[in-house]
Amino acid sequence: MTAERTSVPYQKIVFVCVNRREPHETCCAHRESEAIAAALKARVKALGLSRAIRVSKSGCQDLCAKGPNVMVFPDYVWYHGVAPGDVERIIEDVVRRP
Ligand code: FES
Repeated sequence: MTAERTSVPYQKIVFVCVNRREPHETCCAHRESEAIAAALKARVKALGLSRAIRVSKSGCQDLCAKGPNVMVFPDYVWYHGVAPGDVERIIEDVVRRP
């Protein structure tokens, strides 16, 4: 069986690291990244943009000390040190950038 190759069905994908490490280790999950992912997803849905913008939980982005980390493609924008209060600004950026 051969994989099918086609265009990505979203205009943008917002990757939110939700990787969880041991309690004494640094990771995005220890800094509310699950809540950040849920808030981003809810905002995209409320704006009726779920078919265009996909918020996707990711594994470790290898930038743990800077987390929580959010990366937006194809914008190639990296938000780090994200807090739940940053969600609205991130959404505005994602929606506004062509
Ligand atoms: S745990 Fe989020 S970048 Fe490593």
